[in-house]
Amino acid sequence: MADKIIASSIFPIFDKMMSREDKEKLLGQHGIMIWMTGLSGSGKSTIAIGVERELHRRGILCRILDGDNIRTGINSNLGFSAEDRRENIRRIAEIGKLFVETGIVTIACFVSPTIGLRQMARNIIGAKDFREVYIAPPLSECERRDVKGLYARARRGEVKDFTGISAPFEAPMHPDLCLDTSQMTLEEEVEAVIGLIGIDTK
Ligand code: ADX
Repeated sequence: MADKIIASSIFPIFDKMMSREDKEKLLGQHGIMIWMTGLSGSGKSTIAIGVERELHRRGILCRILDGDNIRTGINSNLGFSAEDRRENIRRIAEIGKLFVETGIVTIACFVSPTIGLRQMARNIIGAKDFREVYIAPPLSECERRDVKGLYARARRGEVKDFTGISAPFEAPMHPDLCLDTSQMTLEEEVEAVIGLIGIDTK
């Protein structure tokens, strides 16, 4: 049905808009997606904020897309079933692609718990613009921190389908970067992510 509507009544103007190259030249940087995956409380948002501040200081435009923020806005109608998580990640990837194609260094912080979900994000954004960063402290450390009190609630059965407790998390097999935040300082983690972005963004 949707395919038919697109074919008969939608007229995309992609070819008439200013190009990605035009925008990257204007900004003097290249767009890229840094996709952070990891358990709730692993440190994704903290690292992203550190990277954003450091890039800003270096004159590089950056945008963070963060699970808890996005779920209060465009994805406020989604929960944590497998189907809703898929739609969550699909929308984020489509939005992220718009930022990347505007030449912006984009950092996505989503649990994105399965290999399939992250592969979908990579496919939408395009492999050449996609870097996967696994924020990988042990579950026991995330649970010890329990910044939002969600692990305790999940253990009591008050939060269902909670990743790591009652819903699965599949670790990436070949991430571009793996950071165990129980073993590193925030400064080291920020530098490692900036190293991954590389001189292209300078
Ligand atoms: S994802 O699985 O669809 O990628 P997302 O990153 O958007 O998840 O949201 C995860 C955040 O929502 C967590 O950091 C946590 O604060 C909160 N949350 C609430 N319920 C759950 C749940 N059942 N599983 C995981 N995270 C949850």
